[in-house]
Amino acid sequence: MASSDITIRSSIKARLIKSFTVAILIPSLVTAVVGVLMIREQIYEQAQARVTSDLEAAKEIYQNGLERLKDSLRIHATRRIVCDALERRDPTELVAETERIRRAERLDILTLTDEKGKVFYRACNPSMVGEDQSRDSFIQYVLQKRAPVSSTDIVQPEELLKDSNQLAIQASMEITQTPMAGPSAKTQVVSGMMLKGAAPVFTADGRFVGVLIGGILINRNYEIVDKIQTTVFKGESYKGQPVGTATIFQDDVRISTNVRNVNANRAIGTRVSAEVAESVLKRGDTWLNRAWVVNDWYISAYTPIRDLQGSVIGMLYVGSLERPYNDILWRNLYFFLGITLLAMGLISIVAITVANKISRPIRAMADAAQKITEGDYSQKVEISSDTEIGFLAGNFNTMVAELVRAHQELKEWAETLERKVEQRTTELKAMQAHLIQSEKLAGVGKLAAGVAHEINNPLTCVLTNSSLLLGDLPPDDPRREELQTIVDETLRCRKIVKGLLDFARQTKPQKQKLDLNTVVEDVLALVKNQASFQNITIRNEVDSNVRPVLADADQMRQVVLNIILNAADAMPQGGTLRICSCFESESRQVLLRISDTGPGIPVEIQDKLFEPFFTTKKTGTGLGLAIAYGIMERHKGALRVESSPGHGTTVVVILPTDARTIEE
Ligand SMILES: Nc1ncnc2c1ncn2[C@@H]1O[C@H](COP(=O)(O)OP(=O)(O)OP(=O)(O)O)[C@@H](O)[C@H]1O
Ligand SMILES: [Mg+2]
Repeated sequence: MASSDITIRSSIKARLIKSFTVAILIPSLVTAVVGVLMIREQIYEQAQARVTSDLEAAKEIYQNGLERLKDSLRIHATRRIVCDALERRDPTELVAETERIRRAERLDILTLTDEKGKVFYRACNPSMVGEDQSRDSFIQYVLQKRAPVSSTDIVQPEELLKDSNQLAIQASMEITQTPMAGPSAKTQVVSGMMLKGAAPVFTADGRFVGVLIGGILINRNYEIVDKIQTTVFKGESYKGQPVGTATIFQDDVRISTNVRNVNANRAIGTRVSAEVAESVLKRGDTWLNRAWVVNDWYISAYTPIRDLQGSVIGMLYVGSLERPYNDILWRNLYFFLGITLLAMGLISIVAITVANKISRPIRAMADAAQKITEGDYSQKVEISSDTEIGFLAGNFNTMVAELVRAHQELKEWAETLERKVEQRTTELKAMQAHLIQSEKLAGVGKLAAGVAHEINNPLTCVLTNSSLLLGDLPPDDPRREELQTIVDETLRCRKIVKGLLDFARQTKPQKQKLDLNTVVEDVLALVKNQASFQNITIRNEVDSNVRPVLADADQMRQVVLNIILNAADAMPQGGTLRICSCFESESRQVLLRISDTGPGIPVEIQDKLFEPFFTTKKTGTGLGLAIAYGIMERHKGALRVESSPGHGTTVVVILPTDARTIEE
């Protein structure tokens, strides 16, 4: 069948689950990704906002340092001792005082010039005096504006050396190459970066007499960056690492920082990434982004540090370790993923349950349909829901019931048809046999009639003359025996001829209303005293109410006689002859059944019984049944022999009572 040829490649259940999963997975994943991205955005926005404000705070601290320097120089410049020394051109008294100021203010240089900018006293190196410093931008500023000033400045090594060797050593550092930094031929920092300030010195009467210059070298001085760390980041740490870091760059080199390298040392001498250098140092922008700082990612902010002329000479950096933010992000990601997975799990369970509910009855129907095609009609699908599927299952069951009924009907029809064909075939066979028999009889009849007619007259002549001769001979004449044989054999010949004539005569029956029981009685009266019936018990069991038939009484008597004589022949040692009659209402026929308890008729000769001259008897003519058959045929009746060897024989005489049949 076509349906069984179709292989199921993908089940409804699998498709439903797949669709559910795709429908859920995509939005879930999109939600998770969008959610995480949004959170990431927020976290970074927050982090950047925080770093921006941290940078402002750091700038404030740095600026405070400069302001403090300017203020302290301004205050110290007003000291009498400074002014007096300049007026008197005698620095002796300054020695102790400047040293005190330098220590109190933690200054690396403290120098006093005269009103023209010539060095009058150098606290760190008192022997180094007299040189003209009027070209120094700070001194120039004070000379021109007579006002204090402070800013960041790059101090060349020879200038540092003028104050102290130690200062030059503190400033100089080897440059460590960092992978993210841009290409540079520099290998060493020799100059120093300073918080530098200058303030005018006035006499009591307001005369300008000199300039007081002070500076703090930033290289390797961690005061500012550590202050930023403790003030801004409150010294917070994350997994043993400080969260916030601050750095001061001289150009692109870290000269003061609390970022640690792999050896946990301050990462001075390392360079900033090329990207930051390009943005902050070259373009003077503030840079805000995540950045790889020495050996970790930081949310970073860089702002340029400018000198007094406004040129960018370095950078101030603050950075917040990115890892805590990333960890928050990961935690969110895991949370989202967890929720997504949980939702998917729940939805999968729902999907599987729904898919099962939908596919199970359909599968059951498919299986049932398959079994029905294989001939098993006992299939029924359970109706488990009131949905369309349940409706479908109900209709399926009705359809199967209808199919079973139709199949059963067809089967019954086929059986009936078979039976009818069988019955008709048997009837046809009987009809055919009957036709053959009739034709045979007709042919033999014609021949026999001719022969019998020709033989009859000579035979009568022989019989008459031999009988006369026999009468004439004396009783002891030895020829009597031969003559008697001639008479007997001639009589036998006459019997045959008579039989032949009877057989061939085929006279049209003179039909009249006839009671078959009377016919039976007549025949029995005729034969019962004969010698051959002496040992035979005759049981006449005819139904006295049997319907009369339309038949020729003589011919009927001949039929019954022939049959009864055969029965007697079959029971030479005696037996029972049983005759019964009945009316078959269904076929509207009268049946006369004549049974004997003889040896029965062998099967192989049963189809020859009605053939003329067929006999198994020594003195038989084989015409008895042939004649009876012919008579019955002319009466539209039939003769039937029922016999099985060892169980006797029954010959059935059948006559119609149906008026239409009889009239024909
Ligand atoms: N009741 C019977 N029991 C056994 N065999 C029978 C019986 N009736 C007929 N036959 C068989 O059928 C044959 C034909 O019968 P049928 O009456 O035509 O001729 P017949 O009896 O042999 O000769 P005829 O009738 O001239 O004496 C018989 O020879 C016999 O073998
Ligand atoms: Mg006979």
